[in-house]
Amino acid sequence: MLGDLRKRASRRRLLAGAASLGLGALATACAGGGPPSTPAAKPTPTPEPSLRGLAQARGLKIGSAALPLPREPLYQETLAREFSMLTPEYTMKLDHLQPAQGRYEFDQTDAIVDFARREAMDVRGHTLVWHGALPDWLVDGGHTTGELRSILRDYILTVGKHYRGKVVAWDVVNEAIRGDGRLRDTIWTAGLGPGYVDVAFRWAHEADPDAMLFLNDYGGEGMGPKSDAVYSLAKEMVERGVPLHGAGLQMHVSIARSPSPEDVASNIGRLGGLGLEVHITEMDVRVQDSTLPMDERLAAQARIYGDMMRVALDAEACTAFVTWGFTDRHSWIPDFTGNPDAALLFDEAYRPKPAYRALVEALSGA
Ligand code: G3I
Repeated sequence: MLGDLRKRASRRRLLAGAASLGLGALATACAGGGPPSTPAAKPTPTPEPSLRGLAQARGLKIGSAALPLPREPLYQETLAREFSMLTPEYTMKLDHLQPAQGRYEFDQTDAIVDFARREAMDVRGHTLVWHGALPDWLVDGGHTTGELRSILRDYILTVGKHYRGKVVAWDVVNEAIRGDGRLRDTIWTAGLGPGYVDVAFRWAHEADPDAMLFLNDYGGEGMGPKSDAVYSLAKEMVERGVPLHGAGLQMHVSIARSPSPEDVASNIGRLGGLGLEVHITEMDVRVQDSTLPMDERLAAQARIYGDMMRVALDAEACTAFVTWGFTDRHSWIPDFTGNPDAALLFDEAYRPKPAYRALVEALSGA
């Protein structure tokens, strides 16, 4: 599995070199487009470049969080045209998949996964173990530690097996580390102790031996106490032989506060040094915390998206770049903050914003 990723990443370097030297045919060939076609081939109209097509040529998966389907036609059309990967935004969490103890409801998420398979999109599973999105029967159930252990094991094995072969990567444990670098105290540390992380990964691997297993978190994208703690945890897990294959950097940032590209590159580099794949898993860039005119805020937002895409493309270990939604019509941020925002690549009418064009430029090598 990792070998394939390394091949993909090193192919990306080759593609970048080939493309910059105008060796388009070589770039196409290396991108899996088969041997260069003979000159006699009839020229076919080139479709408008999409993020998906540009990213494929660079050996990178580009994705978005996805809401339950179907929705307005433009939602599905844009999602399939622009992205090669999707992450169910909330239906693949315990509160939606097991609303009552022992009763699993897969239909909503199966519809999203089936859409992805029809559109030849990879699926990131999100998330098996989190302190958020927990149903009342679990939180208020007064379960013993033994019961919590069997509840978690049953959940991971049931869900992992249900989506076996349909999910390329799982965020097995989400947001395990606090901002100060300590392990977060949750129902899972209470039930299983700090070793719950290792155990969760081993159960996930048992359920789906072919899925890439990720540790996913926010606020640890650059260099600092949190990312140091994530790196240390990942290093110890690798040393213990835990089936950890990747680290997810959520990248929920804002024009007022985002990590430097240099720090993100350093962090990805050290995670890659552990032999891990790195995904940008949930990027969005808030513009609400600013008094600048909106066009200046959107320009600042575009710069951040473009910078982080260039970091991702330059980092051998980084093989996926996922935004947390793609249209400002459907973003979690306004409900969460109580303020309007415009954090994504397309506006509420599905028109591409400067942020979208910044990604096109970065992916085109401009
Ligand atoms: O839309 C339905 C509504 O029809 C239904 O009646 C109601 C009650 O079930 O649920 C509504 O869906 C809500 C959904 O947001 C859309 O608003 C879900 O309850 C609610 O749980 C969901 O919140 C999600 C949250 O995670 C918890 O799962 C957000 O969409 C989602 O963006 C957020 O994503 C998290 C990542 O998983 C982890 N990283 C941070 C990120 C943002 O908080």
